[in-house]
Amino acid sequence: MKAAVLTEYNRFEIKDIPMPEPGENQVLVKVDFASICGTDLHIFKGEFHPRTRLPFVPGHEFAGTVQQVGKAVTQIRTGERVAVDPILWCGECAACKIGHYPACTALKLLGVDMNGGFAEYVVADAGMLYPVGNGVSPHDAALVEVYSIGFHACKRAEVTNGDTIAIWGAGRIGQCILQAARTKTTGPIFLVDILDERLAVPHAYYDDIIPINAHKENPVERILKETDGRGVDIAFEAVGHAVQIADRPNPIQGCINSIRGAGTVCLLGLTAEPTPLVMRDLIWKEGKLITSRVSHGEFAEAIDQLEKKTLNPKAIISQVMPIDDIQEAFRLLQEKPQQYLKILVDLSI
Ligand SMILES: NC(=O)c1ccc[n+]([C@@H]2O[C@H](COP(=O)([O-])OP(=O)(O)OC[C@H]3O[C@@H](n4cnc5c(N)ncnc54)[C@H](O)[C@@H]3O)[C@@H](O)[C@H]2O)c1
Ligand SMILES: [Zn+2]
Ligand SMILES: [Zn+2]
Repeated sequence: MKAAVLTEYNRFEIKDIPMPEPGENQVLVKVDFASICGTDLHIFKGEFHPRTRLPFVPGHEFAGTVQQVGKAVTQIRTGERVAVDPILWCGECAACKIGHYPACTALKLLGVDMNGGFAEYVVADAGMLYPVGNGVSPHDAALVEVYSIGFHACKRAEVTNGDTIAIWGAGRIGQCILQAARTKTTGPIFLVDILDERLAVPHAYYDDIIPINAHKENPVERILKETDGRGVDIAFEAVGHAVQIADRPNPIQGCINSIRGAGTVCLLGLTAEPTPLVMRDLIWKEGKLITSRVSHGEFAEAIDQLEKKTLNPKAIISQVMPIDDIQEAFRLLQEKPQQYLKILVDLSI
């Protein structure tokens, strides 16, 4: 089968590799579309070494059609369209034992810890599949995984109708949090970034989104001004590695300083860099500081909302490219973040 193989860091080769074979409880999925994630960009550059070892086929955001099922599989049939949840938890660690799977200490992902979806076929456990109806196009189905991260974050932060929200980071994750949050609250959503192009993305699709360019104005001051000094109910941080801007709080501090009394800050950004924080404001507000990692069954909610057309995949899909052009797709994502959020890899042809 055809696959995009990372043969050395920063270099994909399109190769013919052996087809994987499904075990008794597994399913062979013919991939229709896969979506390129920020994590894939890190893997590409070698930043996940030695967790990923070469040669390697990345891809953990994908959807396809069931091609073959293992002997013991009863819940899914050949020909069904599915989104594949790439997460494998151990079931044995302290977090797994209380059912808190995203915190599994041995969590693994298809496409990160083992070959994934930048290939014509993938084998997955039957329990990792979520059926996708005809109301969701094959390429939109490839976004179910990343939307699920947005829905999981909203669940962790307990977004409810009427809530006012701020999101630091208008990248792939921030945009998915925004779209997921909009299915839950009609309240204003402040979106903070340093790229006007990314801040403009939701404009054509949603009302009451207030873009704030942190280079041009102080986001905390603007949020407090727009909320008559009250602050937002929930602030999400989806930046990770932050560009430092003089006279501006870093994104996490910005979240802390923007919430109302007893509000919630939900952190998603991953960085190995230290972030200086003054916690006094959080304590005086008796604010909640929580985190959100991957997803936990929100695939069903994401598929349902895609079917209801309450999500807008068009807003975040910048381009669809054939698998043969994957090297170019990675170049565009790295060099032109203003223009490219999500690029989908087409494996349906
Ligand atoms: N917790 C999870 O489950 C989870 C899942 C996937 C990704 N992530 C992490 O989330 C983060 C975001 O991922 P992404 O794919 O959206 O990345 P991205 O690069 O697309 O988005 C980050 C955005 O932050 C903006 N930014 C940089 N410095 C800023 C600043 N000082 N103020 C405001 N905005 C600033 C950038 O311009 C960019 O648009 C990463 O750290 C990633 O590793 C977490
Ligand atoms: Zn991802
Ligand atoms: Zn575990």
